[in-house]
This record gives sequence, C-alpha cells and structure tokens, in this order.
Amino acid sequence: MTIMVTGGAGFIGSNFILNWLSKNNEQVVNVDKLTYAGNLENLKSIENNSNYIFVKEDILNKEKITELFKDYNPRYIINFAAESHVDRSIHSPDEFIQTNIVGTYSLLESIRNLWVDMPNKEKQNFRFLHVSTDEVYGSLDSTDAAFTETNRYRPNSPYSASKAASDHLVRAYYKTYGIPVLTTNCSNNYGPFQFPEKLIPLVLHNALNGKEIPIYGDGQQIRDWLFVVDHCNAIDAVLKDGKVGEIYNIGGLNEKTNIEIVNILCEILDDLIPKTNALSYKSQIIYVKDRAGHDKRYAINASKIEDDLNWHPTETFETGIKKTVKWYLDNQSWVKNITNGDYLTWVARNYS
Ligand code: NAD
Ligand code: DAU
Repeated sequence: MTIMVTGGAGFIGSNFILNWLSKNNEQVVNVDKLTYAGNLENLKSIENNSNYIFVKEDILNKEKITELFKDYNPRYIINFAAESHVDRSIHSPDEFIQTNIVGTYSLLESIRNLWVDMPNKEKQNFRFLHVSTDEVYGSLDSTDAAFTETNRYRPNSPYSASKAASDHLVRAYYKTYGIPVLTTNCSNNYGPFQFPEKLIPLVLHNALNGKEIPIYGDGQQIRDWLFVVDHCNAIDAVLKDGKVGEIYNIGGLNEKTNIEIVNILCEILDDLIPKTNALSYKSQIIYVKDRAGHDKRYAINASKIEDDLNWHPTETFETGIKKTVKWYLDNQSWVKNITNGDYLTWVARNYS
C-alpha cells in the first residue's frame, strides 16, 4: 500500500512523513515543488529508506500529478502543499492564490479523473485529506468562545482567504462528486524544521545571532500553540477514523500572547546559554509596526476530535517548547544552510 503527501518537504509535511514511517511499514511518495520553504535536509534520515520516494513536482502541473496518481495508486493523499506565511501573503498574494487555491483545485481535478474508474473496493478506502488552518475562522475577541467546526468563515489575510477558498473547493468536490475528503483546521504549530520566518524559530535565530527580536504592535495577540508531532498524530487519527466529508479542528489548548512566547524563549536561552555580557536575551526585544489586518486571537475548541477520535495532545507547552529550543540549538547548521541560501543553491544545482 502507498500514501502520497504533497508539500512533504516543508515544516509539518516533513514531520508527518518522519512520524508516519516511524510507525508504519508503508510506502510514502512525497511530491514537493521545493520552494524556499521546502527542504530535503528535513528528510535526510530517511533518504535511503526503501519505503520513501521523493518527486519534485508542482501541484499545479495537473498532467504530471495525474500520472503520479496512476503510477502509485495511493490510498491516501494528504495535502500540505501551500504558501504558508501570512506576512509574505500581505506583500505578494499571487503565489498564495496560485498554489493554495488553483493548486488545490488542480489536485481535486486529478483525483476526480481517477475516481470515475476506481474499483469499488479502492473507493471505500481512498481518502483525500486537506490540511488547513484555524485562520479561516478569522479573529476572536478576548471573551469569545474558541473556534468550533461550525464557526463562520471570516478570513482576514490573503493567506487565510486562499486557505478558506481551498477548503470550500474540497467541500464542493465531496458534495458534488462524492470524493471522500477530510479537512483539518489546525492552530499554530511549533517544533523541529520550522522555517525561521515564523515567530518561534525567528526569535531563536535572532536571539542567538545578536539581532533585534521584532514584536509586531503591542505583542498582545494570542495564538493557540501545538507541538507539530501532536498535529501529525491528529492527522493520522483523522485518516484512520475520521468521518468522510467532515471537518476536524485541531489545537493545543495553549493560548499565549506573543510577548509571553518571546519572554519564555528568552528565559530558556538565558538558562541554557547565558549571554556573555550578563544581559538577558530580552534586551534584544524591540516593538515594530504592526502586521496589517493583524488577527487578535485564535483559539481552538478541539472537543470533536478529542471525543470522536480519542486524540489528545501529548506535549504540554512547557515540554514541547523545551524540546524545540534544544532541537534548534543542536541543529544550528540546518538553520545556517537555509538562512544563507546554500540550500536553494543546492536545489538549483540538482533540479535545474
Ligand atoms: P511550509 O511553508 O513549511 O511548507 C510548505 C511546503 O509546500 C514546502 O515544502 C513547499 O516547497 C511546498 N509547496 C509550496 N508550493 C507548492 C506547489 N505549488 N507544489 C508542490 N509543493 C509546494 O508550510 P507548513 O507550515 O508546513 O504548513 C503546511 C500546511 O499546514 C499548509 O497548508 C498550512 O496552511 C497548514 N497549516 C500550517 C500551520 C503552521 O503553524 N505552520 C498551522 C495550521 C495549518
Ligand atoms: O494559526 C495557524 C497559522 O499559524 C498557520 O496557518 C500559518 O501557516 C502559520 O504561519 C501561523 O500563522 P501566524 O501568522 O499566527 O504565525 P507567525 O509565526 O507568522 O506569527 C505568530 C504571531 O507572532 C503573530 O501574531 C505575528 C507575531 N509576530 C510574528 C513574527 C514573524 C511577531 O510579533 N513578530 C515576528 O517577527
């Protein structure tokens, strides 16, 4: 049997593949375009695993993707491929519209082509799982109840709007063509292999390199943090027992303001590798112009996946963040390679 992962060289996709192969003796085909965010170094530990296959491809290439589906006949397709950074979507939305909306549409069309002739037995087991975000629900005030699966879609950034559009397409292909889809809407992830443009790895990178640590606006925005492996296990649970056509919210039950997160990271670093000048890493914090349309608060009500699929996060924020800081400290060469451009040069040389 085979599963196919799109966007598996990114942060969550690579964690998902590593986690999957550590538990299952089943072939995984990873289809990734290798944008700036895709990094094969994340998957170095399995590059010689006979159950792992990498194909460099754009999900927008419908013909090639259809061919890959025919060649590998996966029972599950899990779509992580996306442009994922909100700030980039504010400066240049185009790639977000292309990959997140048109790319998801293109994947669904390839699946629709295969679905028609798929034998009934295979149809029963086939699933397309679309990995989405809590940002589609918009922003909460401090006293609002956490997002449930029935919250209205109210995306506020080009990124979240593109993800919302993709979620609607996934739903439509279930309702109209009967494609067995599952959608997960998850909160902020943290952990190994996250590109240092996102808050947690960016703070660690800047702190360790003596750079300023930028806090947008007043730093009082709230995110609900989940350790990435807990997200991967939630996806496993949804694939295995999720009800076709349903949405599952996934969250860490860890609401924290951005300034709290930055202070915690600085305190862990102060403890592990104190600065030589005896100052705290907090001395590097600066407040900068706020993100346009900055969402105030995200919070997930994860009761559905907890009650129906018996999934629960295994890491508390305290245990997960310590593991994460340790991983970044132990893997400074990984950070260096992607921040100094060596990785993209390697991609250009090997895949031109
Ligand atoms: P990422 O940016 O780290 O990785 C995205 C991956 O997709 C990269 O490997 C990239 O090369 C690949 N990709 C981009 N465009 C492609 C294309 N056209 N064809 C094929 N591959 C392409 O993203 P991430 O943080 O790992 O997020 C993965 C998914 O999870 C996204 O859909 C994102 O919206 C969602 N999500 C992320 C978070 C989070 O906190 N990071 C939380 C909830 C949901
Ligand atoms: O909620 C899920 C989403 O979480 C995912 O769908 C996105 O793909 C993922 O990028 C993430 O989006 P955020 O915008 O919440 O994550 P980011 O790490 O960019 O920012 C987290 C918070 O920190 C946010 O309120 C903005 C703030 N921030 C971020 C950066 C990079 C700062 O204050 N300073 C910074 O330098």
